Amino acid sequence: MRMVDLIEKKREGKELTTEEIKFIINGYTDGTIPDYQVSALTMAIFFKDMSERERADLTMAMVESGDQIDLSAIEGIKVDKHSTGGVGDTTTLVLGPLVASVGVPVAKMSGRGLGHTGGTIDKLEAVDGFHVEIENDEFIRLVNKNKLAVIGQSGNLTPADKKLYSLRDVTATVNSIPLIASSIMSKKIAAGADAIVLDVKTGAGAFMKTLQDSENLAKAMVNIGNNVGRKTMAVISDMSQPLGFAIGNALEVKEAIDTLKGEGPDDLTELCLTLGSHMVFLAEKASSLKEARELLKKAIEDGSALESFKVFLESQGGDASVVDDPSRLPQAQYKVELQAKEDGYVSEIIADSVGTAAMWLGAGRATKDSVIDLAVGLELRKKIGDEVKAGESLVTIYSNQEDIEDVKNKLYESIKVSSEKMDAPTLIHTEIT
Ligand code: URA
Ligand code: CA
Repeated sequence: MRMVDLIEKKREGKELTTEEIKFIINGYTDGTIPDYQVSALTMAIFFKDMSERERADLTMAMVESGDQIDLSAIEGIKVDKHSTGGVGDTTTLVLGPLVASVGVPVAKMSGRGLGHTGGTIDKLEAVDGFHVEIENDEFIRLVNKNKLAVIGQSGNLTPADKKLYSLRDVTATVNSIPLIASSIMSKKIAAGADAIVLDVKTGAGAFMKTLQDSENLAKAMVNIGNNVGRKTMAVISDMSQPLGFAIGNALEVKEAIDTLKGEGPDDLTELCLTLGSHMVFLAEKASSLKEARELLKKAIEDGSALESFKVFLESQGGDASVVDDPSRLPQAQYKVELQAKEDGYVSEIIADSVGTAAMWLGAGRATKDSVIDLAVGLELRKKIGDEVKAGESLVTIYSNQEDIEDVKNKLYESIKVSSEKMDAPTLIHTEIT
């Protein structure tokens, strides 16, 4: 087989066989096929697309390029959740303990990554002593015992995807549905999930800005999952404005605690109940979505969801007393209110630009080597559709720098106040199975 012939085949819009896709991915992983040929191929895929079968084959070839996590020693159906990313998305912190408390095993492998705030692990490290450096055996033992544990990413998961993603980044081929879908799904499958619930975001703060693009990506991922034997479904949810109120690491831990107590923001609570119901249903812990939702609501009401969070934190070295006393979380030195300049209704909160303001405060990493300030961030006081009076607070800014003029200006640009009353955006657009 010659790579040049396969590039030509795809350039002409023909389907690559399973063997050809394996040849490409194996050759790229071991270095026998160079970057320049793979870039030509990804550009051909960008224009000519891939069939459902090719997408499944590409996904599995990437899964098989590295380690695959074996979760078979964990009892029950392992359901993983993946979000395509957004601003202030605190769902993982809530969903883990929430679904674990009704008996769904959550064996979460998580990362740090770049972004407006840290990843799940960074957020959890706002809890004094909490750590994810645990051995595999200990990870499995904890999931069996508590139904929930989080471990750092294994070194050699989907190395083909790592190389391919970096290459796509510099060859203008990130934005291709078959390539995004196979990239995301390969990581979930290699991490050992039996079933997968996808939260595909849509809107200004999302990877996919339009509903149509988000639906196309969701369908592509759901098809891949189901075609390779993992029950998969997707929820398409709003990310035009940030989710919940908090954007920042310790602030989001506090928001998760509030939500587990039943006192969280409405949108975050609703999204967690929706995603959680699907996880519980796929894990066969309820016979309908309605029953699953009832179980989750009860776990919030009777305190078992919160208890599950405490046990989880303690089991991985964390100071669980933060759950009863969130003032033990890292605190910022300055707390500044961003005051509304006029009366009206909040009509827009541009999620990605609010996220940028949080990053400027130090809540996220701009580069791999940036150090996160766990204490800083933003807390929205108003969401789209809310009435506001001049002088009222739009956002509380938690900062460790005294001079935050640029952050304030960025926030004023991101939050629009209009004289006309606006409806809150639809939170959940569609579900794709
Ligand atoms: N996220 C991924 O993991 N892969 C992509 O290709 C795009 C977003
Ligand atoms: Ca939030």
